[in-house]
Amino acid sequence: MAKENLSVWTSIPFWRRSAAWVTGFATMLLIWLTFDTMGQIGMGTEADLAKGITKRVPAPTVINYHIDYQMSEKRGHEVPVIGKKQPFFGKEWSEKEAAALLHLGKLTSQAKNCMNCHTLLGNGAYYAPDLTKAWLDPAWQKGGAMQPMTGKNTVEEAMAEFLQHPSQYPTHARMMPDLKITADEAKGLVAFLKHMSSIDTNGFPRNFSKTVEQFKAGGTNAH
Ligand code: HEC
Repeated sequence: MAKENLSVWTSIPFWRRSAAWVTGFATMLLIWLTFDTMGQIGMGTEADLAKGITKRVPAPTVINYHIDYQMSEKRGHEVPVIGKKQPFFGKEWSEKEAAALLHLGKLTSQAKNCMNCHTLLGNGAYYAPDLTKAWLDPAWQKGGAMQPMTGKNTVEEAMAEFLQHPSQYPTHARMMPDLKITADEAKGLVAFLKHMSSIDTNGFPRNFSKTVEQFKAGGTNAH
């Protein structure tokens, strides 16, 4: 008789069973989320690019394409839009060449510790601007200050020149020091920055388009 009056909340088998179900469910959820994330962040291929399939992280050969940044009404923020083919440092890069160039850029960014001052995809320091969308910064495009300042007429050449001799180009109250970057390393870094700008980061960094508007209203640099 006493047993019938026991509340379920004091029943040990009830809690045991609940713990087993919750643990089991959470494990399945985590496994599913892991596979979903791997799918989302997996790098696309040249075939995706050629077919116009949008991947969050496009193939290295995205450096052969024009990259635009457009407002998506559906998502409520800007998304990278991969456009027409466009020569990068005057040529089209094969899959192998593009992968090697990007690799050199990544290694150089680590060797020269860009993250010591900048953030890349949000990681790093806050002394200098986030570089995630630096390639799309209008200061480097036609009509911006950087092409005339460096005497170059493409974004990639202007950026490569700046990276080799930043202390010659005062763009900001704080200046970037010369890091003894070679011409090849600079090319690699620019490829790395261009590729990074093509990654769909869900609108990160949040204030990028706002700084672009301020720039259009009369600044020299969007940051
Ligand atoms: C010692 C600090 C420091 C280091 C290290 C550093 N930078 Fe900078 N960088 C700056 C500062 C300061 C600016 C100037 C900010 C500006 O002009 O908006 C700058 C500006 C830039 C810009 C122009 C930003 C834009 O969007 O217009 C780029 C591109 C850049 N750096 C790339 C790099 C790369 C790539 C590396 C690593 C190889 C690097 N920086 C390492 C301090 C640094």
